[in-house]
Amino acid sequence: MSANPVIFNNTVLRDGHQSLAATRMTTEQMLPALELLDNIGFGCLETWGGATIDAGLRFLKEFPFDRLDAIRAKTKSKHMMLLRGQNIVQYAHFPDDIVNAFITTTANHGMDIFRIFDALNDPRNMGTAIKAAKAAGKEAQGVICYTSSPVHNTESFIKLGQDLEDLGCGSLCLKDMAGLVPPRQAYDIIKGLKDSVKIPIVLHTHETAGIGATTYYAGIEAGVDSIDTSIIPFANGTGQPDTARMLALLENHPRAPKYDLDALQALREHFTKVYEELSDYTSFANERVDADALKYQVPGGMLSNFRNQLKEQGMEDKFEDVFKEIPVVRKALGWIPLVTPTSQIVGVQAMLNVKFGRWKNFSPQATDIALGYYGRTPAPVDTEVQRIAATKSGKDPITCRPADLKDPGMDALRAALAAKDYPTNDEHCVIQAMFPQELEVYYKSKDAPAAPKPTKTAPTDRESIDLGSGPRHYGINLDGKRYAVTVDES
Ligand code: CO
Repeated sequence: MSANPVIFNNTVLRDGHQSLAATRMTTEQMLPALELLDNIGFGCLETWGGATIDAGLRFLKEFPFDRLDAIRAKTKSKHMMLLRGQNIVQYAHFPDDIVNAFITTTANHGMDIFRIFDALNDPRNMGTAIKAAKAAGKEAQGVICYTSSPVHNTESFIKLGQDLEDLGCGSLCLKDMAGLVPPRQAYDIIKGLKDSVKIPIVLHTHETAGIGATTYYAGIEAGVDSIDTSIIPFANGTGQPDTARMLALLENHPRAPKYDLDALQALREHFTKVYEELSDYTSFANERVDADALKYQVPGGMLSNFRNQLKEQGMEDKFEDVFKEIPVVRKALGWIPLVTPTSQIVGVQAMLNVKFGRWKNFSPQATDIALGYYGRTPAPVDTEVQRIAATKSGKDPITCRPADLKDPGMDALRAALAAKDYPTNDEHCVIQAMFPQELEVYYKSKDAPAAPKPTKTAPTDRESIDLGSGPRHYGINLDGKRYAVTVDES
């Protein structure tokens, strides 16, 4: 076993508050911690991407690139962002010119590492982003999304790692978004990757089910180069294991790194205050460690969102039925991993199957997965399910890379911005591409007084997908304020 110290990356500024406080930490709440965070010497700071761009615009009246600039100006550590490949930070595929513009402009704002994943683990959906990051002189980190299914095994994950190295990635991340990978399997995958690729490997997990820190320990024994940790109270539970806790776990280990415990204590004190300020968005359900997620093999956030959505549909008593339907839907749709956005798509389709009968009613997103519009599924889609989806939607199945069907979009975006008298630079174009309504709300409301706070049970990120029938959920804007409304068929 190599004795080089394992490197810790820090996620408190992105995954930490996305997992535990609905992505509501403001730039202002981050700024006082930056000097301490920067001086500790983490491998990198995860500062952007995931839901932070959406949430910043929608709830915090922050233009996303302004946060990046503000943090960049006060830190010399490497910055890392989470990117959903061809989806950028949205839920649909974008044309290559928009993906390129997003990455180039983000690199110009000082992003160092682009952590690039695809919900189907289809490398074709990651290639444009990988090339763009490299062309900008930055690191493309290819992601292997961990999931358990009859077609996923240690060998298939290692093979994907090799493919991503061949595509030009400078590092790899084994991303266990739900905290479900058994420590022994993490060991085997990391060991296999270390034996078959030359680039550094990061292990990312969550403490949701209580095995995250042990998984890191196993990964470190297998030779992983770095792990992601956060700062309590934006750590543990549905977040990453806490940094100080992970250090304690590695005491006397030959690969234990040295980080300043006094500085970590000072950070903990700062973030404890911030956590209290965000108490409208934190919850006991996210803080506690619960092996329930292992039973259902779904991300922890999906469980809590799902309980809310079933309640809204008057289907609380169908919880077990719907969860039994999840593997049925996954199998039919080619055993896709459960990560944004596929976790929501599979969940909604399971709900529809229980409510209306199996495959009587398809969500538009499940239709697109069945017909190849999200990319290549890990196993073939069930032919009968694909036939029904094609008949119901009138769409033909495809086998090409989905973005090959997209025309370039930057010119139209610039024209749309100009028509509204908004700035037309690339920063605004890429935000307009992904969040046109939110950008409008941002411009209309940034000088208006704060909007009313949502209730604790309201879906926080865009996790509720239109069910096709039954009550529909809309966001409306009145005088610059945003309201959530539910419209039912009556
Ligand atoms: Co995560």
